[in-house]
Amino acid sequence: MRKPLMAGNWKMNKTVAEAVSIVKALKSSIADVKDVDVLICPTFMALYAVNSEVKGSNINIGAQNLFWESKGAFTGEISPAMVKDAGCSYVLIGHSERRQYFGETNETVNKKIKAALAAELIPVVCVGETLKEREDNVTFKVIEKQINEGLVGLRAEQAGIVVIAYEPVWAIGTGKTATPDQAQEVHAFARKAYGKMYGDASQKVRILYGGSVNPANVSELMKQSDIDGGLVGGASLDAESFTKLVKYSK
Ligand code: 13P
Repeated sequence: MRKPLMAGNWKMNKTVAEAVSIVKALKSSIADVKDVDVLICPTFMALYAVNSEVKGSNINIGAQNLFWESKGAFTGEISPAMVKDAGCSYVLIGHSERRQYFGETNETVNKKIKAALAAELIPVVCVGETLKEREDNVTFKVIEKQINEGLVGLRAEQAGIVVIAYEPVWAIGTGKTATPDQAQEVHAFARKAYGKMYGDASQKVRILYGGSVNPANVSELMKQSDIDGGLVGGASLDAESFTKLVKYSK
């Protein structure tokens, strides 16, 4: 059985004080949750303070990105060891916004995944098609390529550790969620594609859905057999709504 993972991606939102105040609220509102893993990904700036606040709680923290080199002349970048040192156990890699605005490719995604795993961070690897790609009926092709190229070359024991997040670009921040059937179809396909590369590890890997997940649609999405959690933007920015997501009715 795969344990569900509910993850909040705060993107470029919240000051340090705001971030700390939300996790403070979350810490008590979800203290009793044991059957769902909880992950918050604040900005790099807030990681250290948020980590001090969540220590000893059931809230895990993750970075939204990292660079694959371990140190040196790479102005503006953050190494895997620094992410780990700030208290992170997870890191988002290859979010569509990073692919779209910051030139990330399946190749750079692959380097980042390997660097994250080497630093004992769990990578949450984002894949997803654009609206045009969906309309052109190339969704499966796009997902398969992102998985084949982005996740190539992992060792057997690493293959079962990663998390995959399916985030259709047309559903991100648009209020337009994929239907549970649409999402399930791609999740099942992604698991199969991953299985062709790594066999049984594909049954262990959690595949999260992301794209306008909210308290009203989370339960239907979570009922799908290949949806193992959510990667949530907007609805994770508020303690009350994120609590509802973590405590979705089963
Ligand atoms: P929204 O939940 O705001 O659509 O964002 C999804 C997302 O991109 C999470 O990484």
